Amino acid sequence: MNMVPELHPLFEPITLGNVTFKNRLAMAPMTRSFSPENVPDAVVADYYRRRAAGGTGLIVTEGVGIDQSAAIGDGSGTSSRIPLLHGEAQLAGWRAVVDGVHAAGGKIFPQLWHQGVFRIEGTGPYPDAPSLRPSGLWGPDGGFSTVSRDYIPRVIQPTRPMTEEEIADAVHGFAKSATNAKAAGFDGIAIHGASGYLIDSFFWPQTNQRVDRYGGDMAKRALFGVEVVKAIREAIGPDMPILFRFGQWKQQDFNAKIAETPDELGILLRALAEAGADAFDASTLYFSAPAFEGSPLSLAAWAKSLSGKLSMAVGGVGLSENLFASFETGGAAVENNFFDAAERMGRGEFDMLALGRALIADPDWPNKVRRGEPTLAYSRDMLGALA
Ligand SMILES: Cc1cc2nc3c(=O)[nH]c(=O)nc-3n(C[C@H](O)[C@H](O)[C@H](O)COP(=O)(O)O)c2cc1C
Repeated sequence: MNMVPELHPLFEPITLGNVTFKNRLAMAPMTRSFSPENVPDAVVADYYRRRAAGGTGLIVTEGVGIDQSAAIGDGSGTSSRIPLLHGEAQLAGWRAVVDGVHAAGGKIFPQLWHQGVFRIEGTGPYPDAPSLRPSGLWGPDGGFSTVSRDYIPRVIQPTRPMTEEEIADAVHGFAKSATNAKAAGFDGIAIHGASGYLIDSFFWPQTNQRVDRYGGDMAKRALFGVEVVKAIREAIGPDMPILFRFGQWKQQDFNAKIAETPDELGILLRALAEAGADAFDASTLYFSAPAFEGSPLSLAAWAKSLSGKLSMAVGGVGLSENLFASFETGGAAVENNFFDAAERMGRGEFDMLALGRALIADPDWPNKVRRGEPTLAYSRDMLGALA
């Protein structure tokens, strides 16, 4: 296939653990709430298959509720339509998704997700289960956020902190779902450790004010995430890759930071790497934005240099508006900033590049960009159906 020469770095194969991707382009995890009764059906399978057929090397699925009873509820997506990764029908559904992606030449990781503080009490597949929050806190109200005003009063009241038993149960839930993912034929595991959900709410001092071993300085706030990675590594064995998503912004506040300094970030990422993470998906609103004052380095560049592991950049690739702006304006035009991404990758700043909204808009984005053909613009209306 013809290729725009400057884009070569994006289309080189890369190996992570025992998996080789045909190129460096990944589909970013995106909740779509299209799995009836929490089961991914043929429509979902076709949606992912089309992205693999369009040239995406790695599909990271939408957030998938782990096997812990408070993992999902209303608050982020429609809980009866968010997929799970336990139960016979769910696993059969995922097998069909995986087979379709493999047949189209792609690889696929499920994004293991526990909503934590975001779940509205009394909702989801197990409404009686209490929501899990490290310190009972949802987070600060009034942040720079897109959560709806109706939602805040339903979650803002402090609840009781998680008990040690609940922490152990959540860690076990991640491991059980990773075991199921391996059995269903997935190529690796993606962990959702960003956006203010359960794992991230342990990292963030605004939601973690614990005084036991899970709270305090960054090393202590990292412990829950470390335990999750270790448990998953033990469950899936040494070779299957683990991609860990951490990130700057939180749903509670798009301006939040994961760490005050590179040193602090290094403490977190090295602990996760030692626990068994193979690569870091550095979630930002714009892939090349400097992460810390006084340095031009992006978050993905810092992740790579601080952890010594591979890293993936994400945010605004191929589009004129970042995620937050496109909530407000309703869309984003096509932009050729992927040349900048390719140049950065060629210099070794990061190793992979994830596309979110650009792949909702255009399943053939990688193949088209590789050939120098125009791609389709993104509009929020596209979220109303899987196409
Ligand atoms: C509709 C939609 C749903 C999303 N759901 C998730 C999710 O389930 N898990 C996650 O980690 N990020 C989620 N994100 C964030 C994306 O993975 C990505 O980081 C973000 O959209 C920035 O990339 P982009 O600018 O290429 O769209 C979602 C984004 C969108 C637009």
